[in-house]
Amino acid sequence: MALALGIDVGTSGVRALAVDEVGAVVAESGRSYPLLTPRPGWTEQHPEDWLVGTLDALRDLSAQLTGQEIAVLGLSGQMHGLVPLDAQGGVVRPALLWNDQRTGAGVAEIEAAIPRRTLVARTGNPAVTGFQLPKLLWLRQAEPENFGRVRHVLLPKDYLGYALTGTMAAEPSDASGTNCFELASKTWDAEVLGALGLDTALFPDIVSSHGVIGTLTRELAAQTGLPDGLPVVAGAGDNAAAATGLGLSSRTPSLGSVSLGTSGVIFAPLDAPTPDPEGRVHLFCHADGGYHLLGVTLAAAGSFRWYRDTFAPGQSFSSLTEQAEKSQPGANGVTFKPYLAGERTPHLDPDLRGSWTGLSLATRQADIVRAVLEGVAYSLRDALDVISPLVKLERALATGGGAASDTWLQIVTDVLEVPLTRPLQSQGPAYGAALLAWQGVGHTENAASLARRENGRDFTLEEPEPYREALSRYRSVSV
Ligand code: XUL
Repeated sequence: MALALGIDVGTSGVRALAVDEVGAVVAESGRSYPLLTPRPGWTEQHPEDWLVGTLDALRDLSAQLTGQEIAVLGLSGQMHGLVPLDAQGGVVRPALLWNDQRTGAGVAEIEAAIPRRTLVARTGNPAVTGFQLPKLLWLRQAEPENFGRVRHVLLPKDYLGYALTGTMAAEPSDASGTNCFELASKTWDAEVLGALGLDTALFPDIVSSHGVIGTLTRELAAQTGLPDGLPVVAGAGDNAAAATGLGLSSRTPSLGSVSLGTSGVIFAPLDAPTPDPEGRVHLFCHADGGYHLLGVTLAAAGSFRWYRDTFAPGQSFSSLTEQAEKSQPGANGVTFKPYLAGERTPHLDPDLRGSWTGLSLATRQADIVRAVLEGVAYSLRDALDVISPLVKLERALATGGGAASDTWLQIVTDVLEVPLTRPLQSQGPAYGAALLAWQGVGHTENAASLARRENGRDFTLEEPEPYREALSRYRSVSV
């Protein structure tokens, strides 16, 4: 049986896996690389580190697969980053990442040049701190010499595609996270860029997410042991790729996903580019030609980890969720706001900060922990309430490290009032990238239909009422 490879260029490392013709994962590998924080609020990575890590992982994978036919390779990765390249295709400076917070002035510059409602109607989103365009404006303002050398701008996984094939390309799911991609026409937005004195020629050609961008260079084929001429498929941003791997399609918008990773994400497929008019929830292209909404709370399992590391070091997450069970829905009046890293949906404010309120002498650790788990669920509910008028989710698949906890998933189910299903396993973005690769070489017409998903436990509504009151208390605590 032939194999497709999928790669995910993440923030902490790269993951690569091999998927057979019926969608089963047969091998995997990965490498980690450093996250640079040269100043508070700045996050950067060396694109070279992504490439070196990827080549190591591919070498490892090809050694595991000796004798098997490798047919195609697909890409996915962290969204929104800026990789600035000079006329020779050399990296001008380290990449600025999706969680970089230095771009306040760039956001203000976009808002001054283009009315917010116009930008939302054209691109699906208002100016967002983490997106690529404000980063480019920061570069122009803060590092004019570097900016003067920039001739091309790529997203992280598209840089990797360029390094692997020599061809620069982008695809809609990731391009729609830049602030300068017009959703209806799926082209770079010349009007938005023109209003800021920028040229569409900085940006690469757009191919479809399953489009072949080129073939692996002979040199890298020799270095990795992969076939000379291996087709490389554009793939998708990490959220759209992960959703593809879960089988989520914009043709069945009632099934979405909720992820409790470091950040928490609600993914809701959509068949038309209908934004929230105020742009409080992201609207991006899906990898299947449709669209999706994305609600993001920045500190989900990240809040729980922060709590454990700061107040209960050495304790396991499961012992803490057992504690939380000893409290009750509403956490005996304690409310936690999880804005430890600012907030995206619906506030879009990097300066928001977290809090506990409602503490008393009767408050126990059980209430405090439960408040953390509930606070994350309420912040997801805030996102869902912006999504619901646009698309009604009837069920969502629960993924991410936090989804391993039955206690937490029951809280999230009751707070969202949406039944959840925990798949037995979810392979993340690299898996979706491999499925898109299969579509790219014509093995399937629809990558998501190849997704192997075995459903594990279902969570149904048990006691939503007490949370409704606690939710209005959460909302009444000023942010
Ligand atoms: C989505 C987002 C993150 C990154 C990180 O808007 O910022 O999910 O893609 O991987």
